[in-house]
Amino acid sequence: MTLTVENINPRIGSEIKTDIDTLLGGTEAGHIRSILEQRGVVFFRGLEISDDQQVAIAKTLGNLVETEGEGGIYKISLDRDVNERAEYLKGSMFWHFDGSLQPYPNLAALLRAVRLSETGGETEFCNTYAAYDDLPAAEKGAIENLRVVHSAERSQYYVNPEMSHEEINFWQQYPTKSCPLVWTHQSGRKSLLLGATADYVEGMAVEESRALLARLRDWATQPEYVYRHDWQVGDLLIWSNTGTMHRAMPYPLDSGRLMHRTILAGEEPLA
Ligand code: OGA
Ligand code: MN
Repeated sequence: MTLTVENINPRIGSEIKTDIDTLLGGTEAGHIRSILEQRGVVFFRGLEISDDQQVAIAKTLGNLVETEGEGGIYKISLDRDVNERAEYLKGSMFWHFDGSLQPYPNLAALLRAVRLSETGGETEFCNTYAAYDDLPAAEKGAIENLRVVHSAERSQYYVNPEMSHEEINFWQQYPTKSCPLVWTHQSGRKSLLLGATADYVEGMAVEESRALLARLRDWATQPEYVYRHDWQVGDLLIWSNTGTMHRAMPYPLDSGRLMHRTILAGEEPLA
C-alpha cells in the first residue's frame, strides 16, 4: 500500500491512509514532507504504533531532536508527576508555535495520542501561509518590514496573569528574540509569524502594537484557516511547525491526557 490523501479543510489538514511498514520504510517520506508543507497538518487515524516506531518514522522525515524527553519521546501532560514542566505546558492552550526563541525553530512535531481526556483536549492548527497569502495587498505592504520581539515572559502571562516579581525575573532570564512578522522561507513562500511569545512590534507605540498583533492573530485563526483534530487513541499527527500555529483546547489538569511527542530539528534559520 502506498498513500491515499484526503484533504479535510480546503486550506489546511489532510488525512493520510497507509500502513505502518510503508511509514517505517521511508519510501514515501519525501511525499509526506511535501504534503506537510502544503497542508500544514497531516494525520494517520488509529495507527497504534509504539514509541520506537514513532521515533523510527520521525527519522525518515528529518533530523530527530534527542535532547527532549527520553529516546526521542517527550511526554505532554499537565500532571506534574508525569512531566515536571507541566506548569509551563499550560501555555500550550494558547496559539503558538514551538521553539520561537530558538535560532532554528523546530521543523515539525509528531504527536501521538496515548490517553485522552473525557472532555476537551482537541488540538487546533491554523495555516499561517494561507493567512498571509489572503491578506489584502496594502496590508502585506504595511507589515512587510516589521519586526516583533518574542519573549518567554510574554507567553507566561497567558498562564499566570499576575506573576510575582520573582516569577518575572525567572522568565526574563531567557533572552528575547527579534523576528520578522512576515517569514520569508527558503522556498520563497511567506507566512505570518505570531504566537504567544510575540510581545511587541519594534518601534511601534504599545497600544498600536498590541492591537496589530491581536488583529493578525484573529485573522490567521479564522475558521477557514483552522483544522481541529478530535483525537482518538492511537492517532499519529504531524504538524509543520514553520507554517502553522497550534493550541490545545482546555482540558482538566487531572484528566490523565497523555500525548507522546517527537520533534524534528529546524532546517531554516529565523533571523
Ligand atoms: C505541543 C503542544 C498541544 C496538545 O506538544 O507542542 O502544543 O494538544 N501540544 O497537546
Ligand atoms: Mn506546542
